[in-house]
Amino acid sequence: MITLKHSYPAVSPEKATHEALLAKFQATVQRADIGFFRHTTDKSVAILAKTTARRFAHKKLLVHVGIGGSSLGPEMLLSALGVEDGKSVQFLNNIDADMLARQERRWVMPDTFFYIVSKSGGTAETLAALSIILKWLEKNSVSESQWKEHIVICTDPQKGELRQFAREHQLSCLDVPPSVGGRFSVLTDVGLFTAAWAGVNVDQLIHGAEAIKHQLLEASADKNILTLTAAWLEQQRAAGKTLTVLMPYSSLLKEFTAWWVQLWAESLGKDGKGLTPVMAYGASDQHSQMQLFMQGPADKTMIFLRTDVGNMDYPLASQIKLPGMQALAPFKLSQLMEAEYSGTLTALQESQRPLLDFAVGKVNAESLGGLIVFFESLTALVGVASGIDPFNQPGVEAGKKYAHEWLGRNRP
Ligand code: PA5
Repeated sequence: MITLKHSYPAVSPEKATHEALLAKFQATVQRADIGFFRHTTDKSVAILAKTTARRFAHKKLLVHVGIGGSSLGPEMLLSALGVEDGKSVQFLNNIDADMLARQERRWVMPDTFFYIVSKSGGTAETLAALSIILKWLEKNSVSESQWKEHIVICTDPQKGELRQFAREHQLSCLDVPPSVGGRFSVLTDVGLFTAAWAGVNVDQLIHGAEAIKHQLLEASADKNILTLTAAWLEQQRAAGKTLTVLMPYSSLLKEFTAWWVQLWAESLGKDGKGLTPVMAYGASDQHSQMQLFMQGPADKTMIFLRTDVGNMDYPLASQIKLPGMQALAPFKLSQLMEAEYSGTLTALQESQRPLLDFAVGKVNAESLGGLIVFFESLTALVGVASGIDPFNQPGVEAGKKYAHEWLGRNRP
C-alpha cells in the first residue's frame, strides 16, 4: 500500500477536481487500444513467462537484448529484486562496441542464452545486436537448427520481422500486446520472462499490480493518491515548476527512477508541453544534487519515496571513541537513513521547495508491482489531463526513420 504521508504545499482535495480527473482516467484505461492497466489481469501472461523460463533454467547467463522500453523495465525489476544465486543477467541495451566486447567476454557455451525483445521487431539497435549474436553462435558451432536452445524472442504477436524470424526458426516467442506501449510493458512478458528466469516471484509482482488498482479507482477525494498527485502536479506546473525530481531513499530503487525517466519524458514531452524528469536517490544525492534542489532555480517539484528496511539491519554500536561514531552508536543503519530523509524534507520545506512524501513499505515484488502501476497510471493521467497523447512517441519514431534513411543513403 502506497500512502501519501505529507505534502508541501498541502494537497487540497477538491471533490470536483478529483471526480473530473478520475473520470478522465477511467475513460482512458477503458479504451480498447490502451492495455497497460488491464493486461496484468490476464493470468496466462505470467504463466507463459514462468513455463518458458523453466525450460531455460539450466542456463547460467541470460543476455536480455532490447532498448528503451524493451530494456529499462526489466533492468529496474532485477536491480530492485535481485537475481538468484548461480545465475546472472546482462542487459545489452545499447550499440556500444566497447561495452559489447566487455559483455561478450562472459558469454560461454552452452550456459548462455539470449532474450531478444522488440515490440516493433524492427528496431535497428536490437537487430544489430541479434546479427552479432547469430555470428557468435556460429563461431561457437551452434547450427541454425540449434538456435531455439539459445534464443527466445518477445515481440508483437502477429507483425514484424522478429515474429517472422521466430516462426522460420521455431524459436520460443512471447508477446508484447499491441495495446501496451514499450515503456508501459514491464509487467508483460517483456519483463516477466527475465524476472521469472532470475528467480523473482512474478506472481507477487502481479498481485501487487492488481492490488493497487482498487486504491487508484475507488479511494475518495482526500485519499486518492492518483488524483491528488495529478492535481497537485498541475497546480505546481501552473506556478512554473516544470521539472519533476523522483527521489526514493533506497539504492534498490535507483534503476526504478531510470525506468520512470523514460516513462515521464517520452509520454509527456509533446506539443511544447512536458515535465522534465530528474532522477535522484537518497541518501547519496544529498551529497550531489541536493544543493541545487534546495537553493537552485525554483522550478522543481520533488516526489520522495520512503521505504522500510528489509530483513537485515546493522547496529552502529562501536567501541571506537571517535565522537562522530559515538553519536551514531545508539542507532541502526536504517535509523540514520530515516534521520537523513526527515532532515532533508524539513530543510527543503524551509526553502519553500514543493514536495510529496510517499511511504511505500519494504521493497519487494508486491510493493514494486504497486509502484509500477501507480507511476504508469499517474503518467497516463497527467498526459490526458494536459491534453496530449501520452501513449505515442512521434519524436522517437522520427529519429528511427531518419536513421534508416541515413543507412539507405550511405550504403558502402
Ligand atoms: O516506449 C517506447 O515505445 C520506446 O522507447 C520503445 O520501447 C523503444 O524505442 C524500443 O522499441 P522496440 O521495442 O519496438 O524495439
